[in-house]
Amino acid sequence: MNDRKNSRDDGIERYHGLDPDADPVEQMKSIYADWAGSYDDDNDNKLGTISQPNTVILLTKHLPDTASVILDVGCGTGLVGKHLLEAGYATFDGTDLSPEMLTFAATRGYRHLFPADAAKGLPVQDNCYDAALCVGVFTHGHVGPEGVDMLLRVTKPGGLIIFTVNEGVWKSEGFDRAVNRLAYAGRIEIVEAVKQDYMTREGVSAWYIVARKTEQN
Ligand SMILES: C[S@@+](CC[C@H](N)C(=O)[O-])C[C@H]1O[C@@H](n2cnc3c(N)ncnc32)[C@H](O)[C@@H]1O
Repeated sequence: MNDRKNSRDDGIERYHGLDPDADPVEQMKSIYADWAGSYDDDNDNKLGTISQPNTVILLTKHLPDTASVILDVGCGTGLVGKHLLEAGYATFDGTDLSPEMLTFAATRGYRHLFPADAAKGLPVQDNCYDAALCVGVFTHGHVGPEGVDMLLRVTKPGGLIIFTVNEGVWKSEGFDRAVNRLAYAGRIEIVEAVKQDYMTREGVSAWYIVARKTEQN
């Protein structure tokens, strides 16, 4: 018997079995470095993840102007970009913690791709995107609710932030409170908040939030 784990399976296994004692950023970098080459196949055939097309459908519904300038935060291998292109959007940038994941995104139509830790801040000016998307990043062990403020910062007043939150962290990590606090403070208007399928082969749903950044920011 082969006593060495098949590296083809390392990324997804480690995604499922996060080490609570590990440094969160180093753990993410290491998992996605392992997973980048098989991520798209696992997304479709093991996890059955449909958050990327679902999010782009929400964008087309609420921001149909395909000349909009979009930032995809935690873009990974660029599956959101693939759906943006198919929907006719032409100008979108992507950022991710993992340089290995970004390598795969390079073929998917992004204008600029750059590595950054979204939990610490992005090297992007305030108020410069018509929409900021963040898909599959607000989940176990990834980025907490502080990431929502970062999406808001880079979005123009009147622009949209659209993001998914895994149902397993929605309350436990305080995403519900963070979103409600921003709405109560008048910094966002919630345009749509819907719980939908996310990882269909795992039976996991997510909250999909569409919010408009107000002038009061
Ligand atoms: C489940 S994948 C989702 C990728 C892509 N958005 C998609 O829907 O296919 C999560 C992504 O979040 C990225 N990530 C994790 N922590 C991050 C952080 N602190 N800053 C930026 N990206 C991060 C990972 O590198 C990975 O590419």
